[in-house]
Amino acid sequence: MSALIIDGKRIAGEIRAEVKQATDLLRSDAGIVPGLAFILVGEDPASRVYVRSKGKACDELGFHSVTEQLPAETSQQDLLTLIHRLNADPRIHGILVQLPLPPHIDAQTILEAIDYRKDVDGFHPQNVGRLVIGLPCLKPCTPSGVVELLVRSGYDPSGKHVVVVGRSNIVGKPVMNMLLQKQAGANAVVTIAHTGAGDIAHYTRQADIVVAAIGKPEAIDGSMLREGSIVIDVGINRIPDESSSRGYRLVGDVEFNSASKRAAAITPVPGGVGPMTIAMLMKNTLQAASSLR
Ligand code: GUN
Repeated sequence: MSALIIDGKRIAGEIRAEVKQATDLLRSDAGIVPGLAFILVGEDPASRVYVRSKGKACDELGFHSVTEQLPAETSQQDLLTLIHRLNADPRIHGILVQLPLPPHIDAQTILEAIDYRKDVDGFHPQNVGRLVIGLPCLKPCTPSGVVELLVRSGYDPSGKHVVVVGRSNIVGKPVMNMLLQKQAGANAVVTIAHTGAGDIAHYTRQADIVVAAIGKPEAIDGSMLREGSIVIDVGINRIPDESSSRGYRLVGDVEFNSASKRAAAITPVPGGVGPMTIAMLMKNTLQAASSLR
């Protein structure tokens, strides 16, 4: 049996079309154009690619966007000053500081300086706390994308056992908190497996749905999955590949060939979760623009 491929590109396109429609209405009804500021510190090549594609998505939707590109040696104080200026800028509804930051800057201090109402990454403790107790908030984009992929593909997580592999603050913990909520599109039984678990396969073999967010290339293979499970691969890893003109290729945290022989459905890399993250960022920016009016 070969798994159905969950087309993240197509589903992200649907969401962007919905966001575009609502954005046009917000502009014609209230004269508001959603505005998103990107802050990029240093020269990390992957970060530059991500920020460029997020900026392109803004252009397509008619959002106002600015990219503040700062040198790697920028001081923490200068970065804080920039964030305070953007917090006060009425044309800016969302602020995204691309991670990772250089080691001399404390990322948590920076994230907490962002006005939580403009925190379109959903990383501010105010948004994290509200998510945990089920209050309206800005939610992290990749986890929201994971949930949307499941729901829009017809795999309602309600009552299902979801095993999330990875406990990061960006993916693992927020996806757990979203899927736990007693509401439509969630209501799952959630296990988090992580590096402290010993035998990860012991947990993944019990899953109806596996969310792989470990950050290690092809760490989960078909032998670690239950026949017929649903696999959402959050990983984006560059591995050297001489045959590619770029010198590398992208793989997920799941070994696609063996996994797709056991799973009922699986997301590809690229073209699965990646495009969803950007679509959800646009949705969050629209949400921030609508509620800051
Ligand atoms: N770097 C990797 N993932 C993310 C993300 O979701 N948001 C930000 N700001 N930086 C990242």
